[in-house]
Amino acid sequence: MPRSGTSQGIVRAGIVRGGLVRAGIARAGLAALAVAAAVASSSVAFAQSADDIAAGRQLFLQKGNCQACHGWAGDGRKMDSQMPDGANLREIPLDREVLIKTVKCGRPGTGMPAFDRLAYSDGRCFGLKLSDLRARGLEMPDAPATLAANEVERLADFLFAKVVGKGPIDHAACVDFWGSDVETCKELKK
Ligand code: HEC
Repeated sequence: MPRSGTSQGIVRAGIVRGGLVRAGIARAGLAALAVAAAVASSSVAFAQSADDIAAGRQLFLQKGNCQACHGWAGDGRKMDSQMPDGANLREIPLDREVLIKTVKCGRPGTGMPAFDRLAYSDGRCFGLKLSDLRARGLEMPDAPATLAANEVERLADFLFAKVVGKGPIDHAACVDFWGSDVETCKELKK
C-alpha cells in the first residue's frame, strides 16, 4: 500500500509537529508507529478547519463538478441529465483511502472519471496504463478537471464531514452541508 491513510497522516502530523513524530518512528520502530498513527489521526482531525471544509465543498461543486453526476448533495440526484448516474455517496460506507483512490483513479469501465492527471500514465492506478484500459475495452469519461493530491485531500475532508454516511438530505442536513439556511434548504422545510 504505497499511499495509505496512515502514512499520509504521519506526513501531515510531521509538518504540524515539526518532525517529532518521524524521529520517534526511526528510534522505536513499530510500537512508535502505532502511537504515531494515533497522534497523526487526531492532528488531522484538528487540522480540518471550516476553511478546509468550504474549500472541499467548492471543489465538489465547481472545479471537480462532482455534482454533475452525483448531485449537489452527493445523493445521486445528478444535476446534468446527460451525465452518467453517479453513486449515492451519502449512503455508501466508504473508507477515506478507498474514496481518495476512487477520485484519483476513477472506476475504469464505469462512468466515474479519474481526476489524477497522471492516473493512467505510469501504473499508479491499479498498475494500468491508458493502453491497457483500451486493450480491455474499459472506457472512462474525461474528468471535468484534474485535481492535485492536496485538492483530493480537501475534497475527502469535506465529503467525510458533510456527505458520506450522512443519510438522505433533509432540512438539517442541508443547512449542515451549506453552512447556513440557504434558499435550497428553505425549500426542504415542511
Ligand atoms: C461523469 C460523471 C461523474 C463525475 C463527474 C464524478 N463521478 Fe463519481 N461516480 C460516477 C459513477 C457513474 C460512479 C459509479 C461507479 C461504479 O459503478 O462503480 C461513481 C462513483 C464514485 C464513488 C464510489 C462510490 C462507491 O460506490 O463506492 C466515489 C467516492 C465518487 N464517485 C466520488 C466522486 C467525486 C468526489 C467526484 C468529483 C471530484 C466525482 N465522483 C465525479 C460518476 C461521476
